[in-house]
Parts: sequence; structure tokens; C-alpha cells
Amino acid sequence: MDVNQVELTISAVQEDQYPTDQQPEIALVGRSNVGKSSLTNVLINRKNFAHTSSQPGKTQTLNFYHVEEALYFVDVPGYGYAKVSKKQREKFGKMIEHYLTNRDQLKGVIELVDGRHVPTDDDIAMYQWLTYYQVPTLVVATKVDKLKPSQYNRIEKQVRQALGMQAGEPLILFSAQTRLGKEQVWDWISQQTGV
Ligand code: GTP
Ligand code: MG
Repeated sequence: MDVNQVELTISAVQEDQYPTDQQPEIALVGRSNVGKSSLTNVLINRKNFAHTSSQPGKTQTLNFYHVEEALYFVDVPGYGYAKVSKKQREKFGKMIEHYLTNRDQLKGVIELVDGRHVPTDDDIAMYQWLTYYQVPTLVVATKVDKLKPSQYNRIEKQVRQALGMQAGEPLILFSAQTRLGKEQVWDWISQQTGV
């Protein structure tokens, strides 16, 4: 997919702000700093349209990016970020959980994990939770430009095993720097949304 048009429709903090036009949505979830906003930028062909930062906790709202007037990417605040107050985290948590389980327009979730490390307990819990609710999920292992291609197979196995993925469930190795995996991620999004 070659994206030309994108617009940040809303940075939502509550449900009544979500778009109402019924177009399909794909959400991006994962730990703070794992690269959700960076993946969004690669997918939409922009450098820093979704704001990225080396400081975790940059994205603090549900950001709906309207792509080609046909679908939305929803950049979700990262989990596992200690600086946000406990109360704030609980509020986010509820909002995100409600969004992920009740949104008819949500056609799939991309869960990002850091390709350089073994998935964390939060990553595992998120994956199991999505599986339990039968949300179509794509796992993307990010930052693989930091790895040697000879390590790719081992990393893939490690992520699959840690998350408890069934054979055939999709996992893509990705780099926002080299754009490795971009087309495969788009293929999956197209399959889920028909766009
Ligand atoms: P929050 O908004 O805090 O939840 O973080 P996020 O998941 O949106 O992460 P973001 O895209 O802001 O990236 C965090 C940092 O990781 C930034 O410094 C990025 O440049 C870097 N980064 C993201 N993806 C990659 C990648 O594929 N390779 C490398 N080398 N760095 C990356
Ligand atoms: Mg972000």
C-alpha cells in the first residue's frame, strides 16, 4: 500500500470522541518505547507524523490516524510505563480494555514486542488476553536492525515460544530504520480490513 493521505482525526481520551464513520480500525499495542508510533510512520510513509521519542510514555491518548480516507490506525499508549501515576494508568487501562473488547470497527490488533529481548510478562499477558477475546492479532518484533540476519530464526522461535503462539499465527520481523517487514505488515492489514 502506497499511502498518500493521512490525517490525525482525534487524540481521544474518552469513548465519545472516537470516530463515528464505521470504517475499519487496526490498533497498535505494546510496551512504551517499543516502536508503535515509529511503525505507524513507516506504514503511512511519514517521518514523524506520529510523534516518536526516545523517552517512553510519549503517546498518552488513543490516536486515530485516518489513512487514505479508508481505515484508521489507532496508536495506543504503551504499557509498562512507570512514570504515569497509578490512577492514570488504571484509567488508561480501562479505556483501552473497553476499546479492544467492544469496538465493532476494530478488525485487528498489532502487538509489538522488542526483537532484541525476550518478551516481558506484560507482553505475554497482552497476547494471551487478545487470544482469549479472539481478537485477530499480528505480532511484530521491532528494532531487528539491531540484530544480525543470522539471529532472525532464533529470535522468531523465542518470541513464538514465550508468547505461546500456535503454529501458523502470524509474526513479522520489522525495522522502522530499514523498513524490513513493511509490505508484510500491510498485507496483513489489508487481509483484515479489505482495504
Ligand atoms: P510510547 O509512545 O512511549 O508508547 O512509545 P512507542 O512505542 O510509540 O515508541 P516510538 O515509536 O516513539 O519509539 C521509541 C524509540 O525507539 C525511538 O527513539 C525510536 O526512534 C526507536 N525505534 C523505534 N523503532 C525502531 C526500529 O525499528 N529500530 C531502531 N533502531 N529504533 C527504533
Ligand atoms: Mg508512541
